[in-house]
Amino acid sequence: MTQPLTDLLARRSTGFSLERQFYTEPAVFAADLDHIFYCDWLFAAPACQLTKTGSYLRLRIGAYNVIVVKGADGAIRAFHNSCRHRGSTLCQATEGQVAKLVCPYHQWTYELDGRFLWARDMGPDFDLSQYSLRPVHLRELCGLIYICLAEDAPDFDPFAALARPYLEVHDLHRAKVAHTTTIVENANWKLVWENNRECYHCGGTHPSLCRSFPLDPEIAGVSADGGISPRLQAHFDACEAAGAPARFRMEGDGQYRLARMPLQEGALSYTMDGKPAVRRPLGRVAKPDAGSLLKFHYPSTWNHFLPDHALTFRVTPIGPQETEVTTTWLVDRDAVEGVDYDLKRLTEVWIATNDEDRQIVEMNQGGVNSPAYRPGPYSGEQESGVEQFVDWYVRTMQRQLGPRAVAAE
Ligand code: FES
Ligand SMILES: [Fe+2]
Repeated sequence: MTQPLTDLLARRSTGFSLERQFYTEPAVFAADLDHIFYCDWLFAAPACQLTKTGSYLRLRIGAYNVIVVKGADGAIRAFHNSCRHRGSTLCQATEGQVAKLVCPYHQWTYELDGRFLWARDMGPDFDLSQYSLRPVHLRELCGLIYICLAEDAPDFDPFAALARPYLEVHDLHRAKVAHTTTIVENANWKLVWENNRECYHCGGTHPSLCRSFPLDPEIAGVSADGGISPRLQAHFDACEAAGAPARFRMEGDGQYRLARMPLQEGALSYTMDGKPAVRRPLGRVAKPDAGSLLKFHYPSTWNHFLPDHALTFRVTPIGPQETEVTTTWLVDRDAVEGVDYDLKRLTEVWIATNDEDRQIVEMNQGGVNSPAYRPGPYSGEQESGVEQFVDWYVRTMQRQLGPRAVAAE
């Protein structure tokens, strides 16, 4: 039986998880790619990951294959990773460094800024100017690289204007990558996000994270009436008095949120003992107990920015039940491993937390795969963030699909 996606969206019960097809059907997954991942701005990487001229990284987003590369002029650009001759993939490795972009098939060669440079035996009438690499929209915001695959990218400026003051104090232009991990979660990308948007599961799942991250649902969620507790307001006020923008802002029709949230009483960073992981701070947050600037930006990233280090997370859908999550730990470029920080101490909480999240998200997918699954109710107190994400997803898909119907089984 074929059910149009527009009908599935229209009959969704507010306050309940989505129907099974949203998490299982290849046709819904294809529509998610077409209408969300191929249209929106996506977080690619921290800019400091591209350290030298010719440093590049490769990203796969659905059918697209993109290279992000640092030019001789220091500018970072993005191109479709497809040769202008007969289309071969140019860069095979996930990251590396090159002098020029050379196609491995017949050696067509491109400058790091995408301009066509050289090809053998193409005849006297060959017009070099027609064969530059096809560019992908790219914006760099305070050390974070975003790309957009759409021909006409949506306006990035409202997000940039909101986020810039929150991010600036973290001085990501001074950062270096201390560590990065990529894991694959065998679950639909929406289940990965839903799990991220609540801490209802944290007490039972994350023994190491719970040493520093508070279980207070106000921290992970969104307050139903828009109000906040006096304790949280006092934290925002104290952070802002210390020069670190903190108050809760969610804009872009709920696509992005920024808030500097307190950690557990006495905890200063995501470590097993709550003490800072890095002796040399990253940025200029003068209040050591400022907690974590929590930023999410659907559909591709959530981040934590602390006074001593920062964490970026990139969510990439691979298949209907397969999602890649890349985590990057950033520290000040002058912080020396073994002197200013211990890598295990810096990374152990989130390495454990990511794996714990992977396990519960995969359990979630396993149960949703059963034909017996029915949408279940959210906890008003604990899962306002999940509902906010699902509301955003449904609204976005309805806006994108308009009157058209996409068939889903
Ligand atoms: S496909 Fe790239 S040089 Fe031929
Ligand atoms: Fe979790």
